[in-house]
Amino acid sequence: AVADRVFSGVQPTGNLHLGNYLGAIKRFVALQESHECIYCVVDLHAITVWQDPVELKRHIREVTAAFIACGIDPKAHIVFNQSQVSGHAELAWIFNCVARMGWLNRMTQFKEKAGKDRENVSVGLFAYPDLMAADILLYRATHVPVGEDQKQHLELTRDIAQKFNTDFGPSIAAHGHADGYFPLTEPLIAGPATRVMSLRDGAKKMSKSDPSDFSRINLTDDRDTIAGKVRKAKTDPEPLPTEEEGLKGRPEADNLVGIFAALSDRTKADVLKDYGTAQFSAFKAALVDLAVEKLGPIGAEMQRLMAEPAAIDAILIDGADRARVIADQTIAEVKDIVGL
Ligand code: ADP
Ligand code: NA
Repeated sequence: AVADRVFSGVQPTGNLHLGNYLGAIKRFVALQESHECIYCVVDLHAITVWQDPVELKRHIREVTAAFIACGIDPKAHIVFNQSQVSGHAELAWIFNCVARMGWLNRMTQFKEKAGKDRENVSVGLFAYPDLMAADILLYRATHVPVGEDQKQHLELTRDIAQKFNTDFGPSIAAHGHADGYFPLTEPLIAGPATRVMSLRDGAKKMSKSDPSDFSRINLTDDRDTIAGKVRKAKTDPEPLPTEEEGLKGRPEADNLVGIFAALSDRTKADVLKDYGTAQFSAFKAALVDLAVEKLGPIGAEMQRLMAEPAAIDAILIDGADRARVIADQTIAEVKDIVGL
């Protein structure tokens, strides 16, 4: 059995935003206290959609800088870049041969990203969840902190682990693993901001690819930018409710209260104890102060780190060296189990 081990990743596709922070990176930081953690810049996922090569290199360093600026310790844990550890691509191929077409056909993220142009998206975009399963299971990770949008992919990861364990059951047992080879990894989706919504549209998630800059708060935004975006954020005409129940059917209010709660490590109910009956103008002013207090130091530290690309690259090289020790052993065992 493998001890508790956390794995998660963020794509280097630019525009790191408050949703990535509250739904993922802030929680990566907290898990370092209790778990062995492996955090990955998933560049192989990024290229499922065409990326400008020069920008991609910069975005790989930017995600690394964000991890560190948010408080991930790359010495105590592992921070690395996916493409530097060849086991991700190797295990993904094996999982392409384990997962079924029908399973991938059900993935809602693919349907959303492919839209109507299904014939013209990359094969990689379709097979993306197999690579994600490989990322996690290469380290036989037991827990994966993610936002709500990744829930279905985590279920697929468990299905792949289960099918591999069954398909190769006798061979796995012969190699000395009594309870299957891969764990059934648990998603960690928790807190008041598992799905941060766009500031412009309470029905859409905050996303890197939204064409409107006003839809998201980026980790590198300065005070004026944050203030402008929050001021323009869509709301409704009612004052804030005094109880969480009152947020039902009010997606924009629910979103802003959730953001406030997650940034201040409180529950939505607690935030409404302070701001229930307040007008949005007053609540938004408090939210700007809070967001600037929490994100300001992160943005500044990111800029400082980004000014020294060689230092970031050294962290990634060291992290990949340490990740490879675990990954290479898994690949050797998996090949043996499969008969390759
Ligand atoms: P994006 O979806 O912004 O392109 P990634 O796919 O790299 O970013 O996701 C990185 C992490 O951020 C994942 O754990 C994902 O679930 C989380 N995440 C992305 N968007 C949001 C959001 N709007 N709210 C909460 N978590 C999010
Ligand atoms: Na995502």
